[in-house]
Parts: sequence; C-alpha cells; structure tokens
Amino acid sequence: MANRNSRTQHTLAIYARALREARPYWPLLALVLLVGLIGIPLALLAPLPLKLMVDNVLGAEPLPAWLDWLPAAWHSSPDAMFFVVVGIALAVGLGAVAHQIGDWLLREYVGERMTLDFRAKLLGRGLRASLLKQEAGGAHDTAYRINMDAPGIQWTALYGPLPVVVSLATLAGFLYVTFLIAPALAVIALATSVPLLILIHLSQTRIRDRWRDVKEHETAAQSIVQETMSALRVVTLFNRDRHERSRYMRRAGQGVRARLGVIRHESLYGLAMGVTTAVGTVAVLYLGVRYVEGGSMSLGDLVLIMGYIAQLYAPIRTLGSHVTAQQRALASAERAFAVLDEPAGVPESPGAPARGRAQGRVTFEEVSFAYEADAPVLTGVSLDVAPGRFVGVVGRSGAGKTTLINLLLRLMDPHHGRILLDGVDLRDWRLDDLRRQFAVVAQDCTLLAASIADNIAYARRGATRAEVEEAARQAGADAFIRALPQGYDTQVGERGARLSGGERQRIALARAFLKDAPLLILDEPTSAIDGTTEQAIVESIRRLARGRTVFTIAHRLSTLAEADTLLRVGGGRVVEERAAGEQTPHAPVRMAG
Ligand SMILES: Nc1ncnc2c1ncn2[C@@H]1O[C@H](COP(=O)(O)OP(=O)(O)OP(=O)(O)O)[C@@H](O)[C@H]1O
Ligand SMILES: [Mg+2]
Repeated sequence: MANRNSRTQHTLAIYARALREARPYWPLLALVLLVGLIGIPLALLAPLPLKLMVDNVLGAEPLPAWLDWLPAAWHSSPDAMFFVVVGIALAVGLGAVAHQIGDWLLREYVGERMTLDFRAKLLGRGLRASLLKQEAGGAHDTAYRINMDAPGIQWTALYGPLPVVVSLATLAGFLYVTFLIAPALAVIALATSVPLLILIHLSQTRIRDRWRDVKEHETAAQSIVQETMSALRVVTLFNRDRHERSRYMRRAGQGVRARLGVIRHESLYGLAMGVTTAVGTVAVLYLGVRYVEGGSMSLGDLVLIMGYIAQLYAPIRTLGSHVTAQQRALASAERAFAVLDEPAGVPESPGAPARGRAQGRVTFEEVSFAYEADAPVLTGVSLDVAPGRFVGVVGRSGAGKTTLINLLLRLMDPHHGRILLDGVDLRDWRLDDLRRQFAVVAQDCTLLAASIADNIAYARRGATRAEVEEAARQAGADAFIRALPQGYDTQVGERGARLSGGERQRIALARAFLKDAPLLILDEPTSAIDGTTEQAIVESIRRLARGRTVFTIAHRLSTLAEADTLLRVGGGRVVEERAAGEQTPHAPVRMAG
C-alpha cells in the first residue's frame, strides 16, 4: 500500500513537473481546456435530432417546449417538422465537426510548439553537461532522449490531466441527462462505469514499468548501432561485424519481446473493458425496452439514451486507453527531465563580473584531480606561469598532460586546490569569457562535417573569407587546401574523415590562428606531421606564440625548441625542469633523460 502511495506521488510529481516546465503555455493550456469543455453540450445534443424524429415526426407527440417559438402552423405540419429537425441535425453535426477541427488544430499547435521549446532546453542542458561523462558514452543516450523523449512534455502537460477533466465532465453530463429521463438507467450506466474504472486503475501501474523496460532495451540497442557505426574502421579491421550484429540482435530482440509483452497486456485489458461495456449496453437496452413497452418512457427517449450510452462508454474508454498511453508518456517525460537534472559539468558562477581579454598569467595552487576516486592523476600541483611564456609540457603517455590542460581549460574542476587566470579563480570567470581566452589545437583535432572554410571560421563568428585564408596561410595549410579540387569549399566529411591526420592538424592550427586568443594550447600539434612540414609548423607556432601564453604538449622535442619553461608531468606531480628566466628565451632546449 505504501508502495502504491509512493508510486501515485511519483506520478503526480511528474505531472506537476511537466506543468511547471510548460509554464509559458499556461494560457494556451487553459484555452485547450475551454475548447474541450465546449464539446460537452455538443455531445449532449448529438442524439437529439433522432429523438425528435422518432417522437415528433414519426410519432405524434407534441414538440418540446423549447421549440414553442416556431410558427403554430409548423407544429401541425409533419413536413415542416421534418425540415425543422433536419435543420437541427445539420446545425448540430456542423457544430460538432467545426469543434473537432478547431480542437485538433489548437492541440497540435500547442503541443508541437511546446515540444520544440522543450527540445531546445534539453539540448542546451545536454551541451552543458559534463564533457567527460558525455564523451564516455552518455552522448548517445542524451541524443536519444532529446529526439524520442522530449515529446513527453506534450503527452503529459497537454494530453495528461486535460482530457481526463473533459472526459469526466462529459461522463457526468451524459449521466445527468439520462438520470433526468430514467434514473434506473443512469444507475446501470454508472454501475458498469465502476468496473471499467477499476480495470483502468489495475492496468495503470503494471504497464508503466513495462514501458520503461522497453525504453531501456531500445536505447541500449540504439547505442550499439551508433557506437558500431562510429567505430566502423575498428569493427571492420578486426572482423567483428558478425559479433556486433549478434550483440545488436540480442538487445534489439529483448526490446521487441518487451514491446510485444506490453501490447499483449494492453490488449487483455482492452478485451476485459470491451466485454464490460457490452454487458452494460445490453442491460440498459433490456430495461429501456421494458419501459417503452410499459409506456413510462417514449421510444425517442430510449433512442436518446442509447445514443448517450454509446457515447458514455467512449469517454470511459478514452480514459482507459489514455491511462495506458500516459504510462508511456510518463516514462518518457521522466527520462527527459533526468537530462535537465544532470548537473552541469562545470557550474556557471552566476554573480561573476564580465571580463575582457586576459593578460595570460596562469597559476595552479595545490591542484589535485582524479577521474576515479582511487586513482589520482594529479596531486598537489603548483605552478605559476607569467604572461607571454612559452611552456612545454612533457611526460610519458598517460602521465596526465592532457588532464592538466583540460583543467586549465576548465573542462572539469579540480577536486582540491584552485587554478587562477590573471589571479582570478577559473570558477569566478563567466564560462563565456573564459572560453574566449583560449585557442586550442586538441590532441584529436575534431572537425565538423562542413567545408574547410567553415571549419576554420568556426573559431570566430563572422570571419571573412580573406581572414580565413590568412589564418590558413599562417598555419601552413593554404597550399594543400588550394591543391584540393574544391579548395576551401572541400567538404571534410564526418569528423574530418576525408582529410589526412596531418591536414586535420593544420586546419585546427589555422582555426587557432583565427581565434586570436591570449592563451594558446597545443596538445601534440605536430604528432601527425612529417619532419619538413613540422619545421614549417614550428615556425608558424612561433609566429602565433608572440604576445601570448602558450602551453604545448609534445613528445618530440623539436616541437618544443621555442619553450622557455619545461614542465615534466609524472607520478601525479609536475616539476619544472627549467625555470622561466633561467635561460634566455628561445634558446634550444636540452633535456636530461
Ligand atoms: N575521461 C577519463 N576517465 C577516466 N580516466 C581517464 C580519462 N581521461 C584520462 N584518463 C586517465 O588519466 C590518465 C592521464 O590521462 P591523460 O590523457 O591526461 O594522459 P596524457 O599524459 O595526455 O597521455 P598521452 O601522451 O597519451 O596523450 C591516464 O591514465 C588515463 O587513463
Ligand atoms: Mg594526451
């Protein structure tokens, strides 16, 4: 029981959350509700023309009092009556259709707008989530949620409580009118509503958990596809396509089985509800016919009530299928909200003042960091780099060089200690301002699936073609780009796959040139480049380094010829192999060991 209560609370919490998220849409949601309620009198009027036809046109009963205003001559003419009733039928029918279309258009409009806004919000949050976590595989899941689960907001906020209110009000209207004509029939209709509602309630709890299972399996299968397709080269070269296929089939198969299980469940409930409805209808018909035979009710009234009974079960059935559909919607909404609740990778400091271009002093104070709790990568690192220094970072593979740089870029925060730029803790910089201070050539040089020119211009919004070409020239990329058949308009393919590793590096370098930031970060900028090209690039880096603070990670010492400080990373520590100022800048570096 406690379990059920907490489940109900949980469900209510999701609805409340959905409504809060939909706050800007509250006026429109109120309008949707209003339009829904207008449908009730229309539904009540629907079987009326048939009743009038049976009682007043075919039968001899006098017209109801509300038609007294018609000319007296019409009252006695069956032909005139016939046309009056046809007129009423047309008016009611047209009204119902107009209402239906208006209702539909309005709901679609509100729903789609709401989902679009919500998707944008999810995407924004996904982009701010922890980079480490996203890169470690969370990205596929987030993408799936943004695509597939975002509509959960409209399924819950719009198609959640509102149709329930409208259906219950419709139900009450039908029962009330039936009660006015024949109380016993209203009681029968009400009595069959109860088992129906119990069935709905039973199905409710069961089916949501099953839908959640379905989602888990389907996401897992989806990730296998994405992962395999993005590591296609490895899969092919290691001959693992069959393995990947069977891995996919296993997960996808589980998804299909789970989905079929849910559908079996839903159809069983559907069957039970159908049988209950049929029994209720037959009971009302039986009693109604007896009443008509006994003269206590007109035939037209029976027709009217049967019309209501047929419609009476419609809102109940809507409630039923609605509830099961809602289980799916709730599962989706919950998964989408989880994206919103994901803490930001690095939190923005709300009160930070805006800052302009940095001088470029970098200070680490007792900085410690670990990806996994028991495996520290950096412990108690302190260093101070004056503006304009050229810092070389060396160390074994896996020593923590990229980690050091990632901390400086504030892709993550240190667990202890602090990092300062121009004497200000990185956490007291606005993220936008901070990101503007760094031009980065990363170890993996990710390019976007766009043209070369677009990739370079990515560094600065509104850069002209001349500026892009100038940056490429300085990075030593201009010549090879011009040699391509489409030059700067060459499409580089996904992640830049149509270019060689060295070409990608030079484009990334051009991008850094164009950014013109006070700090320059190069993570192995020449790892994929031959000796001759390297010389040219070292030359361009030297040009680029002027007036900036530079951190260059390199395994090849030739790349570090410019360095006036050398930091060696190893064993969690960073030691300065050559203090700044000890030797004249730009002197060749000699390294021990
Ligand atoms: N996202 C991550 N999650 C967990 N551990 C990580 C992550 N990134 C790096 N590591 C671990 O932290 C350590 C330092 O990695 P880092 O990338 O800083 O090394 P590196 O010095 O740049 O090496 P390389 O010269 O090969 O680029 C390694 O042992 C690595 O396995
Ligand atoms: Mg590295």
